[in-house]
Amino acid sequence: MFETIDQINLSYVKPGIYEETRFEKLHNVIFQNSEEGSKEIAREISNLVRTKQQKEENCVLGLATGSSPLKIYEELIRMHREEDLSFSNVVFFNLDEYFPIDPDDSQSYHHFMAENLFKYIDVKEENIHIPDGNISYEELHDYCNNYENRIQKLGGIDFQLLGIGRSGHIGFNEPGSHLNSQTRIITLDHITRSDAISAFTSLEKVPRKAITMGINTILQAKRIVLMAWGRNKAKIVKKAIEGEISSNIPATYLQHHQNTTVVLDKAASSELTRIREPWIIGDCNWDNKLKKEAVIWLCEHLNKPVLKLTDKDYNMSGLLNFKGPAYDLNIEIFNLLQNTITGWPGGKPNSPDSHRPERSKPDSKNVVIFSLAPETTVAHIGGTMHRLVEQGHKVNLLFGLTEDSISTEEYLKYAGVFKKIMPTDISEGVIEKNCPTMEGQMPSGTVKKIKEFIRIEEILTAVKNLGILEKNIKFINIPEKNNELSEKETVEFINVYLDKINPHQIFTAGDFKIPHGIEKRYLDHLINSTKNLYKTKSPSQCWIWLYNESNQDWKISDVDMAVPLSPDQVLKKRNVIFKFLSQKERILFQGPDTRKFYLDSENRNRSMAEKYHKLGLTEYEAMEVFKKL
Ligand code: GLP
Repeated sequence: MFETIDQINLSYVKPGIYEETRFEKLHNVIFQNSEEGSKEIAREISNLVRTKQQKEENCVLGLATGSSPLKIYEELIRMHREEDLSFSNVVFFNLDEYFPIDPDDSQSYHHFMAENLFKYIDVKEENIHIPDGNISYEELHDYCNNYENRIQKLGGIDFQLLGIGRSGHIGFNEPGSHLNSQTRIITLDHITRSDAISAFTSLEKVPRKAITMGINTILQAKRIVLMAWGRNKAKIVKKAIEGEISSNIPATYLQHHQNTTVVLDKAASSELTRIREPWIIGDCNWDNKLKKEAVIWLCEHLNKPVLKLTDKDYNMSGLLNFKGPAYDLNIEIFNLLQNTITGWPGGKPNSPDSHRPERSKPDSKNVVIFSLAPETTVAHIGGTMHRLVEQGHKVNLLFGLTEDSISTEEYLKYAGVFKKIMPTDISEGVIEKNCPTMEGQMPSGTVKKIKEFIRIEEILTAVKNLGILEKNIKFINIPEKNNELSEKETVEFINVYLDKINPHQIFTAGDFKIPHGIEKRYLDHLINSTKNLYKTKSPSQCWIWLYNESNQDWKISDVDMAVPLSPDQVLKKRNVIFKFLSQKERILFQGPDTRKFYLDSENRNRSMAEKYHKLGLTEYEAMEVFKKL
């Protein structure tokens, strides 16, 4: 029950004043990040397994799939290897499986569980239960009943791990699921299918149905832990914890359960009332950041710009605790917002900089832009990149190349051109086998290499349009998952690279769709490299500016630098994004919104400018925004 949990007091609400049940109807704990939360859950699971072992009992674990439990499984594997944790007494039941799907299919949950847990622990084959996505329709009914019976025969689930889908589902219990539902087949919601595109590569390939444990099956578990990480989950988490019980958000059914804990990281908790609007809940410990948040919140609620807020507005909304008249506070907050706006993202030379986001000196800065997805970076900060070049800074790009970002279709297009020039058959597969015939004509002529060439050329074409010099662009190969050795080499490369460039500024992504994925790991590496670098040189010389790569942009109260774009600059950026032709079908901003990503980035930049304008600041066409690390 998380007895030793080191719960972080993220709330500004003074202790003792917070009414526990007025808003939150599910017990929850918030961790600084998903790693810490995952470790705590793994610890609870391992304690349970060991306790049951001592009593010579079976332990029945209900497990989940998706990106959320990955760190927990990693930690369990580590405990198995390093701390003698045995799973010999554990019987596993998985929540769900796509239907139809072959267990050997790499997108199946059978495959997922084998690759991420079962392969590495001492589980007995007969103790693994995952719904069979290959079962015939005729057998389905009995099969599902049997799944339920097997759980019951073992005395029910001792511990059930749950993730939450953005539709509010638990397992695959989509909106509309009944409280009494049991293991059954279900039609997947559109949001769920869209979220699975990245695994299946296109919406058409995502199965339409799944087999899932029911709500009742889940609620029978003796202990339930629901985990959610990242800003992407924040809205649905709020609904699950604060909303009324409803089949529209099946996770709210957990409010019926007596022993459920929701484990969150900071980002996933960010929409909870006590975190987002603590002044609604009680008396607050005000600081500048909270004041800024509260004033922006008030403006948005009353649809008024900052400078038009009155004493009466402050009183009515319960923001009574500010000292002094509204006028002073309005000016203070207006200035804070105004000071974040700059057309000089590298600092304005020969100008006082105490009220500007960046330092004015040195006039010309060494800038590094680090990214694992160049097209996304250009979509997010292409305008800023262009300004930095125009304003005389030395802009260096360090781009990570991940494998297979070029589709076979795209490859064959180029192969067709090569084929016309050279008579060899270079269709995919053939080239792998017939490599020697290509030797000398094309360096190490594998399909993989050619795909990499296509990718690199395309990126170069695009960013050169922003004025960035080819000699300042470096590519590094980002090793595949779980390849610690090569990751270490890549990190060493980054260290050497940063040491050579000696940057004053680094621009990179700081909030991701998957909060503990590869992007986050590389951000951590980059931060460490920067820290180490400046231990030996002058500290705090390099400022790291973060843009937001998750589905939502930063909140205005979190923005430290807002770079306005003119209509022409927006158009320019759009044209540069168009150069990433090979990526245009890939959905870079996951989710139900399948608009092309240039539209997404434009809308995001425009809506940010609109928000600033509504607060009473100058009206711009669009804005790219950054948070300072
Ligand atoms: C899938 C699974 C759910 C899981 C959800 C969230 O739909 N069937 O059990 O909770 O995805 O996935 P993720 O953890 O990747 O956000």
